[in-house]
Amino acid sequence: MSRVISFCNQKGGVGKTTSCANLGLCLSKKGYKVLCIDFDPQANLTNCLTTEEMIELDKNNHFNTILDLFFTDKPFSKVVIHSKENLDLLPASLALSKFNAFVKDSADDRFKLRSLIKTAKLREKYDYILVDSCPTIDTLVFNVLFASDEIIIPVKISEFSYQGMLSFVSTINAVNNTGITDLTIKGFLINQYEPRRTLDKELEEKINEVAKEAEVPVFKTKIRNLAEIERFNISLSDVNEDFKKFTEEFLSL
Ligand SMILES: Nc1ncnc2c1ncn2[C@@H]1O[C@H](COP(=O)(O)OP(=O)(O)OP(=O)(O)O)[C@@H](O)[C@H]1O
Ligand SMILES: [Mg+2]
Repeated sequence: MSRVISFCNQKGGVGKTTSCANLGLCLSKKGYKVLCIDFDPQANLTNCLTTEEMIELDKNNHFNTILDLFFTDKPFSKVVIHSKENLDLLPASLALSKFNAFVKDSADDRFKLRSLIKTAKLREKYDYILVDSCPTIDTLVFNVLFASDEIIIPVKISEFSYQGMLSFVSTINAVNNTGITDLTIKGFLINQYEPRRTLDKELEEKINEVAKEAEVPVFKTKIRNLAEIERFNISLSDVNEDFKKFTEEFLSL
C-alpha cells in the first residue's frame, strides 16, 4: 500500500516545494512510481516539474488542474501530467486560491483531497504520493493533513526559523486528536544550511531543542544552501547530492 507524504509548514519560503520536487525526482529515478500533488495556488511545484510542452492550454489559456477534479466531472486521466519516467503530477494554478471561497470549511470540505485519493484509487496506482502544501493554516492545508499518512516539515535555517514550529506541531496533534487520522511527523528537515557559518550551528542547536520539546525527530541529512537550486532551478534530469542523501535516509526510516 502506498503512502501519502506531505510537505507542510505554515511559514513561507522554507523549502516545502523544493524538497517535495526533489524527493519525487529521486524516488522516481530509483524506480518507484510517484505522484506529486501540487496543493498550493502559487503552483510552484507545477512550474518545477513541467515544461511548456507538457501543459495543454485551452483557448482561454487555462489548463486542467486539481481543482477540476473537485468541482467538475473531469477524470483523473485528463488532469494528470506525465512529468518524466515514473513521475506524474497533479497540477495546480492560481485558480486553486478559489477553493476556500467555494467551500464552507465544513467537515466534508476538509476531506476533498482524502476522498479524491480514495475514489481515483491513487494509492493503488503509485508507490508514493507526495503533496506540496501552502504556507497557511486554512481549508487547503486541512485537506492536506486529513489526506496524509506522514508529514515532513522543512525548516529553513534563519533567525527565528524555529518560531512557529511548536504551534504547527500542535495543529497536527489537534488533527490527530479528531481520531479521523493518525498522522506521523517524519521529521523536521533543515534546509539552506551553511556548514561554515557559526550562526547556522547555533540555530541548528535551537531547532534541535524545539524538536525535542515537540517530540519530533530531525532528519540527520541537512540540505545545504545550494546555488544551483536557487529560484527553483530544479533540473528534471539531475538531482543534487544532498537530496539523494535525504532520499536514502527517508527510505531507511
Ligand atoms: N537548499 C536551498 N538552496 C538554495 N535555495 C533554496 C534551497 N531551498 C529552497 N531554495 C529557494 O528558496 C525559495 C523558497 O523555497 P520553496 O519555494 O521550496 O519554499 P516553500 O516553503 O515551498 O515556499 P512557499 O511557502 O512560498 O510555498 C525558492 O526560490 C527556492 O528555489
Ligand atoms: Mg511552496
